[in-house]
Amino acid sequence: MPPPNTSWPLALSFTLLLALNLLIAPHAVHAQLRGRVGPTTSTAAKRASKVCSVLDHGATASKSSDIGPALVAAFAACKSGGTIYVPPGEYGMSTWVSLSGGQGWALQLDGVIYRTGTAGGNMIYIEKAKDVEVYSSTSQGAIQGNGFEYHKDNKNGCRILRLSHVQDFSIHDLALVDSPLFHLFLESTTNGEIYNLIVRGGNKGGLDGIDVSGANMWLHDIEVSNRDECVTIKDPSQYMLIENIYCNWSGGCAMGSLGGSAIDIHDIRFDKVYSANCNQMFMIKSNGGGGTVRDCSFDNFVGRHNAYTLDIDANWSQLKKAAGDGVLFRYLNFTGWHGSCSDGNRRAPVNIVCPDAKPCYGIRVSDFAVWTETGSKELYKCGNAYGEGVCLKGGAAVGGASLAGYAVTTMTVASAPSGWNAPTMAADLTTLGLSSSIPIPPVPTTFFPGATPYSKLAGGAAASAAAAKDRR
Ligand SMILES: *[C@@H]1O[C@H](CO)[C@@H](O)[C@H](O)[C@H]1NC(C)=O
Ligand SMILES: *[C@@H]1O[C@H](CO)[C@@H](O)[C@H](O)[C@H]1NC(C)=O
Ligand SMILES: *[C@@H]1O[C@H](CO)[C@@H](O)[C@H](O)[C@H]1NC(C)=O
Repeated sequence: MPPPNTSWPLALSFTLLLALNLLIAPHAVHAQLRGRVGPTTSTAAKRASKVCSVLDHGATASKSSDIGPALVAAFAACKSGGTIYVPPGEYGMSTWVSLSGGQGWALQLDGVIYRTGTAGGNMIYIEKAKDVEVYSSTSQGAIQGNGFEYHKDNKNGCRILRLSHVQDFSIHDLALVDSPLFHLFLESTTNGEIYNLIVRGGNKGGLDGIDVSGANMWLHDIEVSNRDECVTIKDPSQYMLIENIYCNWSGGCAMGSLGGSAIDIHDIRFDKVYSANCNQMFMIKSNGGGGTVRDCSFDNFVGRHNAYTLDIDANWSQLKKAAGDGVLFRYLNFTGWHGSCSDGNRRAPVNIVCPDAKPCYGIRVSDFAVWTETGSKELYKCGNAYGEGVCLKGGAAVGGASLAGYAVTTMTVASAPSGWNAPTMAADLTTLGLSSSIPIPPVPTTFFPGATPYSKLAGGAAASAAAAKDRR
């Protein structure tokens, strides 16, 4: 393990942040994060300062209306501090909104917004804002993208929600359903907390659940169903903790694809990820390029009926080869992987293929027990990869300079590894829609076998009563 690259002034401000966090944030800071996450002004303080209801800015609660202009107007009135409020009810949305700037505002979405417009882009785009909370106080707020209207003709449309350069924020207690394209896209976001969220998309590629880049982000207690990214780290990203994730029929969680020449991803931890009927349990995908992915851990993964399992593929054929020797992977830990995969002889549950010109090192795989659901043997494959466990070449776990590349070696596992059988989730998906409307699901109350979410649903009894009082 290399020394932490924290300089003294940074360490000092980190201590201050920690102290602040104790005063403001409801959650403790986790070691993986670099400081506090979430909005700096409380939900109640924002409401107390000002409430800008869309109903007072021209909206009508009707699926055939357009909430777009009213959202823009309510935002203008509350963006310097207050709560933009969408009361319970159904709203159509035919024009998209860009909520740019502002500070100390919340978007309280207790109603359901139905996409009716057909433009590309993003239904709701939030940028350059600080101290923001996007949530439903009843846990029943949702955005229904009705993507099936495109997907049945093999077409795509807009994204549902995109945040860019937003800091000190949270998104929680919402359902994002059937996006015509990506569901939640977070780029260059910092100090964010995303939780108690359900994403349910269509059964085809390109309909990503959550893509995130930035720093100091805590994503937890999230369920994604779709056929592409579940929760995926994009470049550049640092200090992120992703835990209690349920990929309930999905592409699976990943990093990538990493096509740049200066990839900079480090200090990311995934913990307690449950994947059923996914393309992979975890994949890091690149092809050429440059830069580094380092000091990350992937702990306590449970899988069932996934095509790929642990897959580092620096020769990823679906990505056009980028200029450069390849991305350097070093100090990546994979610990506590259990469950089964569809066919471990056809698709090796361990596939660690690093770049030919940049062998990876310090890769550790331990307590790995994933057995095949088909046949009686499975394969582990490693190429250009050094570290400890499975088929990794040992002896150079902490090395780095001048490690020789080597061709893929295959290890055959002919009996079930002990302890592979892991608990499943009661409600695993068996089918996923594409050509018909996808119902809005409730926000679940569990996301990993045996794990209790960090926060209760906002829409408990007290919260629902408060929301009812607000109805007008
Ligand atoms: C990986 O595991 C080793 C050995 O337990 C530990 O020293 C190191 O800190 C871990 N690295 C990460 C990034 O978790
Ligand atoms: C990666 O792809 C290149 C080009 O196809 C090939 O020559 C090389 O052997 C591959 N590396 C590994 C480790 O399989
Ligand atoms: C997983 O998806 C299926 C199908 O939509 C649904 O019936 C099930 O309730 C989901 N599981 C959970 C925990 O939400």
